[in-house]
Amino acid sequence: MNPFNYISIAEGDNFYDRKEETKRIVDTLQGGNNMVLFAPRRYGKTSLVFRAMQQLEQSGISCVYLDLMPVYSLESFAELYLQALYRKQTSFERFIQMVSALKNIRPKMTFDEFGKPEFGIEFAETKVSPATIADILNLPEKMAQDGRRIVVVMDEFQEIRKLSKFGLEALMRSKIQLQHHANYLFLGSKTHIIQDMFMDKNRPFYNSAITLQISTLPERETIDFITSRLATSGIRISEDLCRYLIARVENIPYYIQLLSAEIWQYMVGELHDVTKDIIDNCFLRVVELKSDYYFERTDRLSVLQKRLLIALTQSGDNIYSGDYIRRYRLVGASSLQKAVAVLLDEGIIDRNEATYAFCDPFYKQYIYNYASQRNASERN
Ligand SMILES: Nc1ncnc2c1ncn2[C@@H]1O[C@H](COP(=O)(O)OP(=O)(O)OP(=O)(O)O)[C@@H](O)[C@H]1O
Ligand SMILES: [Mg+2]
Repeated sequence: MNPFNYISIAEGDNFYDRKEETKRIVDTLQGGNNMVLFAPRRYGKTSLVFRAMQQLEQSGISCVYLDLMPVYSLESFAELYLQALYRKQTSFERFIQMVSALKNIRPKMTFDEFGKPEFGIEFAETKVSPATIADILNLPEKMAQDGRRIVVVMDEFQEIRKLSKFGLEALMRSKIQLQHHANYLFLGSKTHIIQDMFMDKNRPFYNSAITLQISTLPERETIDFITSRLATSGIRISEDLCRYLIARVENIPYYIQLLSAEIWQYMVGELHDVTKDIIDNCFLRVVELKSDYYFERTDRLSVLQKRLLIALTQSGDNIYSGDYIRRYRLVGASSLQKAVAVLLDEGIIDRNEATYAFCDPFYKQYIYNYASQRNASERN
């Protein structure tokens, strides 16, 4: 079996480092504070938080986890949240009673294919009101009063902005700040959006949580991890080449595992020493394997968005300068701003201070190849 995992979150032996971060999360929440944790996509936020949740559970705190990525309406938010709370209820009758008391919502139990009961809800009217949402937001505090303290983890918290027209952000803030037995951990991957939500004075969540920004994993630990995992199949890699591999994927934890998995797959049982060529070939092979997906993703983009991506394969600094705009034929600053906003929103690029960069190093390579092919065909 491939010793590298990128399909699911990192757990058990697959998880390394992050001891300090785990401790900070656990201490903050045990201490009764709320926290916001952010990092670009694929840095290991969910894995880290699952580890912290394990420790919190061991200390007697009940952790409710919900991922806001699939939320698209107040109704879907209500259902997801109630299902997450249901999974942690300790008194079935009392929980059903609390849900039945919500206006316009009826609990509904069904059975899955294995006969396991599943909790869902039905709406008496098609729309659920913000007042009902407010009552749902109070449930963790009510549940916690039964004895155990509760921590609610909201993953991909930036998605809450999809419901901004209902004032959900402000409503949520006003409810949670009054709660004493429930604490909150917010996770976000679109760093610029999360930063704006928690650090802008005019936003409801301003200053409402202790901030933790996680970075990439330390190089030393990553080198040891890759080297020992490859060694289990008799594959050797020098320290310099390990560094090269890590740099090739910009040190992003998910892509480190993905590229290492590809290298293992390519070499296992046949080759014993990793070379630079093998790393480069495997890198290109991943781009090739993902090319249908990348093609569709690129095809949907406007001409300006494509030009901007091509420009970003070269540099992500000073992108609004006249020089940059002229060099990459990016028309004007205001249309460029719109193109940047779309690419940020789609999670294709990220912003760090004033620098813009691809989230996915393999997609960056795809765009680089795409631009080279286009240039070649224009020359012919
Ligand atoms: N501490 C770690 N040790 C080893 N590998 C890790 C670690 N953290 C993350 N990874 C690698 O990164 C992958 C993605 O991790 P995870 O899903 O936790 O990241 P994320 O930041 O939540 O990603 P997303 O932005 O997609 O939600 C894991 O499958 C694993 O390959
Ligand atoms: Mg995640």
